[in-house]
Amino acid sequence: MDPSVYLDGDVFGREQRSVLSSTWQYACHRSELGRPGSYVTFEIAGESLFALSDSDGTIRTFYNVCMHRGHRLLEGRGIRPKLVCPYHAWTYRLDGRLDHAPHAEGRPGFDPDGICLTEALTEDLWGFLFVNLDRQAPPMRVIFPGLREAIQEFLPSIERMRPLERRWFTAESNWKVAIENYNECYHCRTAHPSFSRGVILPRTYTIRPVGQSLQHRAESSPEQYYEIDYAASPHAADYRSFYLWPLFSFQIYPGPVLNTFCWRPESVDRTPFFREWFGLDGEDSPTVRRVADEDARTTVAEDLALMRSVQGGLSSRGYRPGPLVIDPEMGLNSEHTVAAIKAWYVEAMRPAARGRIS
Ligand code: FES
Ligand SMILES: [Fe+2]
Repeated sequence: MDPSVYLDGDVFGREQRSVLSSTWQYACHRSELGRPGSYVTFEIAGESLFALSDSDGTIRTFYNVCMHRGHRLLEGRGIRPKLVCPYHAWTYRLDGRLDHAPHAEGRPGFDPDGICLTEALTEDLWGFLFVNLDRQAPPMRVIFPGLREAIQEFLPSIERMRPLERRWFTAESNWKVAIENYNECYHCRTAHPSFSRGVILPRTYTIRPVGQSLQHRAESSPEQYYEIDYAASPHAADYRSFYLWPLFSFQIYPGPVLNTFCWRPESVDRTPFFREWFGLDGEDSPTVRRVADEDARTTVAEDLALMRSVQGGLSSRGYRPGPLVIDPEMGLNSEHTVAAIKAWYVEAMRPAARGRIS
């Protein structure tokens, strides 16, 4: 892509109003919202939002803004019987409707029944909650055809997985540098010795686009640095990653060790992201902790350095974008995925697509 799309703050602003506001993005795990009134705040496309559990277990996502004069309603995470705005104490029920507004009832022009927090679309994939700010967006099964079945087949226990830990990192790069880097393994042999030797068998690596996802697969390394529990899953010895355009990936290391990537772009050249690690029924696992440590110390640290360097290089006056290396077999040394990302990006940035976002 033209280097300016990775460098220009105005482009980033347009992305927040288009591609990042019209795609499915990860909110949090349902297990974090176990009790009525529990909530988790997060940010997508420059908007503060929160996921909230109602008294009947329904989970909704709302914009984190009071309908009175716009104060933020909630911070962080917690549990509330009702949502009370810190400014003038307007109070909302757990379904988002206004419950009462002090000294406003009975005043001319005040109709509490017409006041409700603004909701975003929410979908639940085995407890992984995704949101979309575009109320007209097609459901995830249309954007990612066959995804549910493919993950379920690969990791039948996914429904029982609960987060054990979350680790935040910051890519000092544009978010597209981060996801392009994530979605090609052409650099794996040169840059990731631990992953290439101790986790996967590089010559078996392939990545296939399916809908707007990129599905990575590989066999495990014969020199695996940790134990595989062959009885735990029919694919315990395989590696898969299901990257969901634009900012999330389910990644299943041999083991099976389920972990995720979630990128939260903050500015044109800064992309915080978190890696989350999961245990069966939330049970702690020394293997998962070990892989999480090794991954942070090696693969993630190596990628952070690569992304920082690329971001610097993209702004060099001497840089002329080179051709992508495309292998029709879609194997390890291929960047067809970078081309797929570009196509999705160009489509999402078209004015017609942008026009749908209110
Ligand atoms: S802004 Fe929320 S009560 Fe006034
Ligand atoms: Fe990498």
